[in-house]
Amino acid sequence: MNPYTITGPVDCSVKPDLSVLKGKSVIITGGAGGLGEGYVRAFSKNGSFVTFGDIDEHKGKKLAEETGAQFVKVDVAQWEQQVEMFKAAKANSPHKSVDVVIANAGIGGQDSIWELQDPGSDPVKPEFPILDVDLFGVVYTFKLACHYFRSQPEDPQRDRCFIFKGSMMGYIDNIVRP
Ligand SMILES: NC(=O)c1ccc[n+]([C@@H]2O[C@H](COP(=O)([O-])OP(=O)(O)OC[C@H]3O[C@@H](n4cnc5c(N)ncnc54)[C@H](O)[C@@H]3O)[C@@H](O)[C@H]2O)c1
Repeated sequence: MNPYTITGPVDCSVKPDLSVLKGKSVIITGGAGGLGEGYVRAFSKNGSFVTFGDIDEHKGKKLAEETGAQFVKVDVAQWEQQVEMFKAAKANSPHKSVDVVIANAGIGGQDSIWELQDPGSDPVKPEFPILDVDLFGVVYTFKLACHYFRSQPEDPQRDRCFIFKGSMMGYIDNIVRP
């Protein structure tokens, strides 16, 4: 694999060559709604084989029917369910590949990190559903992408592209997002 070289910032005034997306196998988490749905539609329209995972089965199936993309019911916080999504992407894609992965699924809210318990009672194991999705869900997606990228043949037609989705809220001091 050629070493990565930095080619400078992307010039957004130059129209990208979307023909390179044809035949690529693209995985998108949280693709049934919101921004993820936009990615599913855009990649599908440009000839990619799209696999998207989401907890919303109703919206996922409807979007799959409409776009021809492959829907897999996935809670990204569940490693085993993400494994099934990656396996389906590789098995059913035209070149048996995983070329582009977008870790898009994310939820807002607060985990109960600061909730205090009665110091006189035994401590209760806390639940962290937001961290499970926004941190561990993304790390699972990344680990699986690396696994499949490494088994990809050295071929100029095969990509190895991972996109982390973030938000300014992750950088800004903000009272509602500790
Ligand atoms: N909307 C914005 O303005 C904005 C700005 C910056 C970053 N983001 C980031 O972009 C991503 C998508 O945001 P959005 O606004 O489109 O959100 P959204 O709530 O509109 O859509 C999120 C999608 O993820 C799915 N989802 C939720 N939990 C899931 C789970 N555990 N497993 C699988 N799928 C799950 C939902 O069903 C939904 O389809 C998030 O990571 C968010 O932090 C959004």
